[in-house]
Amino acid sequence: MSQDKHMTDDSPEQDDEQLITTNVTAGLEEDDSTDSQATETMIDAQDIDVYYGDTQALESVSLEIPETQVTAMIGPSGCGKSTFLRCINRMNDLIDVARVDGTLRLRNKNIYDEDVDPVALRRRVGMVFQEPNPFPKSIYDNVAYGRRVQGMDGDMDDAVERALRRAALWDEVKDQLNKSGLDLSGGQQQRLCIARAIAVDPDIVLMDEPASALDPIATSKIEDLIEELAEDYTVVIVTHNMQQAARISDRTAVFLTGGELVEYDDTNKIFENPSSQRVEDYITGKFG
Ligand SMILES: Nc1ncnc2c1ncn2[C@@H]1O[C@H](COP(=O)(O)OP(=O)(O)OP(=O)(O)O)[C@@H](O)[C@H]1O
Ligand SMILES: [Mg+2]
Repeated sequence: MSQDKHMTDDSPEQDDEQLITTNVTAGLEEDDSTDSQATETMIDAQDIDVYYGDTQALESVSLEIPETQVTAMIGPSGCGKSTFLRCINRMNDLIDVARVDGTLRLRNKNIYDEDVDPVALRRRVGMVFQEPNPFPKSIYDNVAYGRRVQGMDGDMDDAVERALRRAALWDEVKDQLNKSGLDLSGGQQQRLCIARAIAVDPDIVLMDEPASALDPIATSKIEDLIEELAEDYTVVIVTHNMQQAARISDRTAVFLTGGELVEYDDTNKIFENPSSQRVEDYITGKFG
């Protein structure tokens, strides 16, 4: 298997990205000002309300998430962090009692428009969950899965290697790609799930407490990896670990009880000098 060549050359990824944008997700295309260095908005949520039956889980949440940065969502249990993440890839559609109102634009296209195919959308918006959930398949087949399902072109060996390298797992598994994903350690399984998520070259990677089931060393590897991933992807991470949010994120959104987004700003500002007293109380542990 060829090594290294594709890790530094980003043109193959660019091709893949265009392929996804033009062929797979018609209606979701970005404008073509790709050579601008300025950070653009990837996700623009406006007045998002989410209800589960009669219970309101998010109340009029508006925020803009910049591309290729790490944005952290923090707040007490039940405040709607996971619900918000699931708005971004329309996974709330899969919950019968859930209803989402408002607009959520992904590069200027409202993903709740009728012409958007949620399955195609989820190819551009990957997700990693709290508990590592590899398929009961080989390491190779876990990573190849999404590309096969989509019928993506290109050299599969190369794509698998690229994703595993990007997920900082290649060196540990390169000689055992046929071993079951379930036989890896918890931390390795989570990196495998990250490799699976990025193998289809998404724009956005959503992570819902991706390190909370892991030991400190595995956690630190995931944190390093998240920072690296943000060079190429827009990462939105839910965490209960404030130090983690402070360490790895560029922007932080603080949700508080009632599904309210109370403050959203640069991470340094949130942790050093929040505007809201409620946020300060939450961060300093007086509340939540
Ligand atoms: N599938 C569901 N059906 C009904 N209610 C739900 C469902 N999922 C979440 N809720 C409710 O919506 C609210 C927000 O839940 P959510 O899981 O988004 O919170 P969270 O901030 O992610 O919490 P945690 O930190 O515990 O993961 C809660 O009141 C929860 O009970
Ligand atoms: Mg949650």
